[in-house]
Amino acid sequence: MAGKTIPPEVTARVKELREQIHYHNYRYYVLDSPVISDDEFDRLLRELEQLEEGHPELITPDSPTQRVGAPPLEKFETVVHRQPMLSLENAFSEAEARDFDERLKRFLRTSEEFLYVVEPKMDGVAVELVYERGRLAVGSTRGDGLRGENVTQNLKTIHTIPLQVLKDQEPAPELLEVRGEVYMDIGEFKKYNEQRLAQGEPVFANPRNAAAGSLRQLDPNITAARPLKIYCYGVGEVVGRTFATHWETLQALKDWGFRINPMIERAVGIDSAIAYHHRLEHRRHGLSYEIDGAVIKVDSLTLQERLGAKSRSPRWALAYKFAATQETTRVLDIKVNVGRTGAVTPMAVMEPVEVGGVTVSRATLHNEDEVARKDVRLGDWVLVQRAGDVIPEVVQVITERRTGQEKPFQMPSRCPVCGAGLVRPPGEKVTRCPNPRCGGALARSIFHFAGKTGMDIDGLGEKIIVQLMDSGLVQDPSDLYKLTEDDLIPLERFAEKSAQNIIAAIQKSKQVTLNRFLNALGIRYVGEATTQLLARHFGTLEALMAADFNELKQVEGIGPTVAQSIEEYFNDPRNQERLAKLKAAGLEISPPERLAASPLAGKTFVFTGALSISREEAKALVTARGGKVSSAVSAQTDYVVAGTDPGSKYIKARELGITILDEAGFLELVR
Ligand code: IVH
Repeated sequence: MAGKTIPPEVTARVKELREQIHYHNYRYYVLDSPVISDDEFDRLLRELEQLEEGHPELITPDSPTQRVGAPPLEKFETVVHRQPMLSLENAFSEAEARDFDERLKRFLRTSEEFLYVVEPKMDGVAVELVYERGRLAVGSTRGDGLRGENVTQNLKTIHTIPLQVLKDQEPAPELLEVRGEVYMDIGEFKKYNEQRLAQGEPVFANPRNAAAGSLRQLDPNITAARPLKIYCYGVGEVVGRTFATHWETLQALKDWGFRINPMIERAVGIDSAIAYHHRLEHRRHGLSYEIDGAVIKVDSLTLQERLGAKSRSPRWALAYKFAATQETTRVLDIKVNVGRTGAVTPMAVMEPVEVGGVTVSRATLHNEDEVARKDVRLGDWVLVQRAGDVIPEVVQVITERRTGQEKPFQMPSRCPVCGAGLVRPPGEKVTRCPNPRCGGALARSIFHFAGKTGMDIDGLGEKIIVQLMDSGLVQDPSDLYKLTEDDLIPLERFAEKSAQNIIAAIQKSKQVTLNRFLNALGIRYVGEATTQLLARHFGTLEALMAADFNELKQVEGIGPTVAQSIEEYFNDPRNQERLAKLKAAGLEISPPERLAASPLAGKTFVFTGALSISREEAKALVTARGGKVSSAVSAQTDYVVAGTDPGSKYIKARELGITILDEAGFLELVR
């Protein structure tokens, strides 16, 4: 073969580009903290692609250009794991967790407390990644623990899996087997299911099935299009590097560029491991991915070795599971709820069942199409779940348990609250009650009006509002300001004292800042951050009402959708009437709080990880209070707000001793 010689500067440039691309891939996907722009990254990748096109003999399987594009396989090859991939023993109660600890102490004849490493138990698919001299050689599924399937091409499409070990901190060992869990974020899972639904394909029951299904595709291009991620939690065989503890192993993996869950901690003794489990269970529903328990591992590898393994699971580790979040129960009825905007939502009324420690008797069915798609009928046995959301939902019908007596659901043609004919515009999923005076929608909107972020009327809950509406005392938010103690006392559940308190709270709410007042109105798409912007920009309600679409759009942080919604709201004669009545009730709307008085004025914030509100909204909450938002943590940073999955900024903040807030803490501070 007369292969043409490759100029040495090309070889060198290819090498340099690959290293840079691997590093920036790591910064972007693993640390969530890029140091170059997307454009710059693309330029590097394109340059490499061009060089490789000109000199295909330079292409190696671990080149960053090789993440996608591999041809489909006929079938998966089998991979024998050098060391078996064991499973974990489960515990379902505190007592069982304590048993585990005592067993270990007896086994090792010690009374000393263990140092444990405690980790979230990811609910995904276990995989093994084999790196030979720092390069990803083979990736496989767990299979039966001894043999798995070779899914290397599919794993390579996952950007959080390094194709090469990062050698910044220490050289790559001769052989490194890394183990971890491939998973799909809940949000991505939902989006992906919606997409499948739109294409008429069957949906996956949960993110784990979606991840497993995506990994087992013979065509890697399909896997590449699925939003998969990995968290690594251990090693198999390692040649050329020894570790003393599991913690040290995780630190080394992190330095080598692997993604390690930032919630992994060390715990001294079983008490603190149990406390970790409880903390985790609390945070569970705020996470962007599913976990089903905490894994407790003995940290010392010497002790791990002494403890050894039983046939299928090591003695040194325990999966302490959370209470189940999916349960089966029966649908007794399907009712519809009328929301603040008049949206009519079908709800399953079910035989009460405990799901993840909470008794559930209602679950949302979202809309008419969803009921039809899941084919939920009265009398059906169903699987219900509480996932990241607070409202439980029906996952699927257990058709095997049907008796034939089940009755299909029909969306009512009239509003169950006011009797108006319901409408569902063509092309829309949501059925609505069109009556602006509908009691159901009105009750919700008054509840929102009186809520914490709005007029903040203490003690005015949903039940009382319905009671006030039923008795004819309140038909509009402004009616609240006409109430007297004498109106309330005759009502059920009211005594003199409670009536006094509510009236006092209502009167107090008359003094209100513009931003709170705007919140109370519940304008579509206008959240707290936006009302701050509006209040600061316009200063008075009159100025805001006079602004047209173009003027609204000029306001920094306000986009066309929001601007249009605001314009529509104030142009609607019903809303104008409502506002006039509120003004007549004697509300005193003051300009927003002065910025200097805000404890956030001049303070610098850095965000890391995912929050339940958007980044834009979070930033706006800070800037609206005179604070600043920066993208990098430094000694000048006052607060780091860590959402789920925080990145390296979180670590840096801890190193610098900067105050770290979680989302709840942040919201408390800004409110
Ligand atoms: S350690 C010998 N750590 O749980 C130790 N496993 O039931 C075995 N898993 O197949 C694994 N999160 O898929 C470990 N932080 C974690 C884990 C974890 C999830 C899964 C893994 C394994 C299964 C064992």
